[in-house]
Amino acid sequence: MMDNGKLRVAFIGAGKQANWRHYSPVTSMPDVELAALCDFSSEKADETAKKWGVPKTYQDYKQMLEEVDPQAVFIITNPKDVLEPASYALNQGRHVFIEKPPGLNLNQIKVLAHYAEVNNVLSMVGFQRRFVPAMTALKARVEERGPIHSVMVANLKSTNDFNRITGNGALDQLTSDGMHAVDNLRWLAGGEVEWVTSHVDTLYIPGPVANNVMAQVEFSNGVVGQLHYSMVTGGASLQPGATAAGYFRAEIHGKNISATVDADRLSTIVSDSGEQEVFDSKVFGESAGSDPEHWLGFWHQTRKFIDCIKESRQPSSNFADAVKTWELINQIYESSVI
Ligand SMILES: NC(=O)c1ccc[n+]([C@@H]2O[C@H](COP(=O)([O-])OP(=O)(O)OC[C@H]3O[C@@H](n4cnc5c(N)ncnc54)[C@H](O)[C@@H]3O)[C@@H](O)[C@H]2O)c1
Repeated sequence: MMDNGKLRVAFIGAGKQANWRHYSPVTSMPDVELAALCDFSSEKADETAKKWGVPKTYQDYKQMLEEVDPQAVFIITNPKDVLEPASYALNQGRHVFIEKPPGLNLNQIKVLAHYAEVNNVLSMVGFQRRFVPAMTALKARVEERGPIHSVMVANLKSTNDFNRITGNGALDQLTSDGMHAVDNLRWLAGGEVEWVTSHVDTLYIPGPVANNVMAQVEFSNGVVGQLHYSMVTGGASLQPGATAAGYFRAEIHGKNISATVDADRLSTIVSDSGEQEVFDSKVFGESAGSDPEHWLGFWHQTRKFIDCIKESRQPSSNFADAVKTWELINQIYESSVI
């Protein structure tokens, strides 16, 4: 903690996602001091600093880290721009948060996980789906009956563009975007991956990018997980109040109880009582606030990262854990029966 009792943090990146989902939670927390931000673009840096009341801006992140000496750094850049600043900050002993996908390939996140380990610092990848308040609340309801036995995660969208959501072609769609669903499946299941079978297809859209992926994964704790990631389904229309067209839906099944969770819309619990409970998913995050970052998990993810630093605890979605999510993506491709 700093002299003023606040945790001092800095940002690298003043782009779309940072402004949309990260500056807001960080600047809303009274125990956090956002001391400076850095972006290659001085215009973006100045605009963002003005918007969120950040006192200092930089174009050179090394100079910022030297002068501001933050305990933690949020690096919200494209995957091609993650490895260098994240390695630098970790090797200076700073805690680091990065967005997904955590780099350009599995090797890069393995390198970052190694630096985090040898420098004994805390790390987090932005898998905010783990922190959706409706998800954590209803997962806990199922687990009140005992262990989860099966989970399904469906992330269904629609496009005619094989290059959509690929970080300008840096990665395939499953890795760049569907990684959220793969990570959510792993997190909900809770065990280590033991066996994978999959069906990976490229449907309708000429080009090299797989756009329809179904997988079954068996975990060491006996949980069976099913994944459907698709860019060529009906998805769902953009409904009033929802943040995106398409669905991200999880089913969590335990002993005679099932939850369905859709962060943007409705969630349900059905049990052997026969009564279906239906919830507006947004209400679960209301105690923190009523903006999308409160029901989509971004605020709770930031809160967890800050709390973990204050308590010297590794967040569950740390870099070493992200390695496992990326490995599962590779296993899904390798096990495809096509
Ligand atoms: N978690 C989610 O659901 C979710 C949703 C959307 C985007 N994202 C991720 O967020 C990341 C950022 O996406 P974006 O759309 O905000 O990109 P962007 O291009 O709008 O912003 C990135 C910014 O980082 C700056 N930058 C990069 N390297 C830098 C460096 N070394 N020093 C200073 N500035 C640097 C760039 O100048 C740019 O302004 C991507 O990895 C994307 O996958 C995640």
